[in-house]
Amino acid sequence: MYGVYSFIAVKNFSFMKKIYRKTKRLIIRPLTILDFNRWKNSHLLMGEQKNKWDRKPKESSFLTKSNFKKILKSQLKMRASDKFYDLSIFDQRTNEIIGFVAIMDVNRGLGQSAYIGYFINNNYWGFGYGKEAVYALIDIAFRDLKLHRIEAGIEPTNRRSIMLARSIGLRKEGLKKRAVFLRNKWNDLVIYSATCEEFDIPWKGKVSPRPQ
Ligand SMILES: CC(C)(COP(=O)(O)OP(=O)(O)OC[C@H]1O[C@@H](n2cnc3c(N)ncnc32)[C@H](O)[C@@H]1OP(=O)(O)O)[C@@H](O)C(=O)NCCC(=O)NCCS
Repeated sequence: MYGVYSFIAVKNFSFMKKIYRKTKRLIIRPLTILDFNRWKNSHLLMGEQKNKWDRKPKESSFLTKSNFKKILKSQLKMRASDKFYDLSIFDQRTNEIIGFVAIMDVNRGLGQSAYIGYFINNNYWGFGYGKEAVYALIDIAFRDLKLHRIEAGIEPTNRRSIMLARSIGLRKEGLKKRAVFLRNKWNDLVIYSATCEEFDIPWKGKVSPRPQ
């Protein structure tokens, strides 16, 4: 079983190895098996859900090593396929996990783009951690993954997320109607985006011609 994943990992190893950022207060990187206790604690310390975009804390019965291994395997597989990069946010001071960021639905066609996602545990909201982590995520998307465009798709009433997108300088592009199926209905998303030029990062990617 592990053989399959190690093959995939080796194939893309040089690509995956680089996903690490140290910011002023945080470290952004993929989870490893050594993070089991940190992962468990981050769920146990999470407060009650504060709004509909916040996560419900997991039941303690879910927080087992075997479930953690399944999560690691799935994250590794998604990174290796260059589709989805799930990265955890660690507080440098305590080494605890305080949230996660993600680069999702990577499009390697003519667009070289992806959606970004972000989540901060609600006991850490309002301290600028979201902003600090998303800056690092954007840097990873443009420099390490060599994407040209990132987009945040935000529900129009998610004020905190919109403030975060604006505060890091993402540009409002418009409303994508009925874009995601969430909570049993189709929901609109406001798109905030940027291309690497807007972050003064030269584009170093490649566009493969479409198959004929
Ligand atoms: C959205 C979220 C990531 C913000 O994280 P955070 O660490 O609290 O955000 P920050 O402290 O870095 O604040 C970022 C900016 O938003 C502003 N902001 C944050 N909360 C705000 C609020 N309630 N009202 C107005 N502005 C707010 C901050 O002032 C800051 O802007 P500034 O630098 O210009 O002052 C966090 O609330 C979260 O995880 N929410 C649940 C998941 C979610 O909604 N994810 C996004 C899905 S699209």
